[in-house]
Amino acid sequence: MFFYKSSPIELTREEKNLAEHIIDTPAEVTGYIFACTNKTEKECFDRMLFSTNKVYSEKMLQVKKNDILFLLNLQSNVLYGPFTAESSGKKDIIPEAWGGKYPYQVKVSTDGKTAESISRTSGKILKRLGIDWREPFNKELANVLVEFMKYEQNHIDDPLNLQIIFPKKAKNLQKAVSDKPVIESTTLWDYPRQSYGKTPKGNNHYRGVTPAFILYNMIKRYTNINDLVIDPMAGSGTTLDVCREENRKCIGYDIVPVRSDIIQNDARHIPLDDSSVDMVFIDPPYSNNIDYNSHPGNIGKISAESDEFYNELEKVMQECHRILKQGKVLGWLIGDQWIKKKFTPVGFLIYQRLCKYFETVDIICVTRRNQTSNTGMWHNRAVRFNFYLRGFKYLFLMRK
Ligand SMILES: C[S@@+](CC[C@H](N)C(=O)[O-])C[C@H]1O[C@@H](n2cnc3c(N)ncnc32)[C@H](O)[C@@H]1O
Repeated sequence: MFFYKSSPIELTREEKNLAEHIIDTPAEVTGYIFACTNKTEKECFDRMLFSTNKVYSEKMLQVKKNDILFLLNLQSNVLYGPFTAESSGKKDIIPEAWGGKYPYQVKVSTDGKTAESISRTSGKILKRLGIDWREPFNKELANVLVEFMKYEQNHIDDPLNLQIIFPKKAKNLQKAVSDKPVIESTTLWDYPRQSYGKTPKGNNHYRGVTPAFILYNMIKRYTNINDLVIDPMAGSGTTLDVCREENRKCIGYDIVPVRSDIIQNDARHIPLDDSSVDMVFIDPPYSNNIDYNSHPGNIGKISAESDEFYNELEKVMQECHRILKQGKVLGWLIGDQWIKKKFTPVGFLIYQRLCKYFETVDIICVTRRNQTSNTGMWHNRAVRFNFYLRGFKYLFLMRK
């Protein structure tokens, strides 16, 4: 094992931004778990450096000197720790480490006693403690984990008795620290609520409001701090609120704005330059099933059973394509229709049109929970009269 001397590092624009953002938060010690694989583990120890790529960059940039860190090998399920952060999290402390693949880094040290701890069962232990390795946790929970690791080393042959080792209150302590959604790893996204965190995102009384978790996931995957995000049909402003909290710039338009920070505009003509935007998200009307407003330009007045509906939304697609920078992503949320005994595959029909302009990144299935037909009466009717309630929406992830 050897140590690198840290040299003074110029903060990047995004780091400065984040630093300003976290200045108000109390500087108390926080626990973080960073991940490695069999391939990357040795370099973590050789360099005494933990690292991550863009998706978890913000977590890394929040790390402060003296925070308590752990290293989880996701392949072997071994958890190492505790380590102490010797620097704050920064970009490119050692640019050549891991061939430049994981540029967000933190220097760590150990008191020398750190060893393999929760061998092979760390996944289970973390779960029972209510720790999601992707999220930060507070000092109390970090200490509980350290205590457990010490116990494990001294009682290798004893069966685990978590009830004795851990105070019950330790469970779910993490929830009190972090109120951010998880970054999804599959194509099935299922959210019990519309929003998360201490401040509302959008208005969950607005009919057709988008689950804020979708925006959080898209922003984390496809944008960087300070990037520009556009929502051409912003409704109650969910995209604006999530972007603001995550330090992204955002412009929201709607044919009838319901908030002063949303600009009145028809999505078929977006007043922005070609190739000027880093991400577009749109949750348009799915047909004429919701009465958003009486504006003549409201596409939600046109039935999804008519070609006109798709023709008008195709104009919106063309605008989204025009304003997006090359290689950047559009998220298009849409659901099918079953009305008066007639099924319309709105999702497939929209997807066909999107494919004329974009290439597909992936298709996500978003569970529908928060809808007016999600009642006992409607579920009963669906079975009695042999039809199905809409259970999901499509989120088409498309790249220019
Ligand atoms: C499903 S809602 C959007 C919900 C929004 N994402 C939220 O979280 O509140 C669809 C929105 O599209 C708007 N809309 C309909 N036609 C439009 C058009 N031609 N241009 C811009 N907005 C339009 C409606 O006014 C409505 O607010």
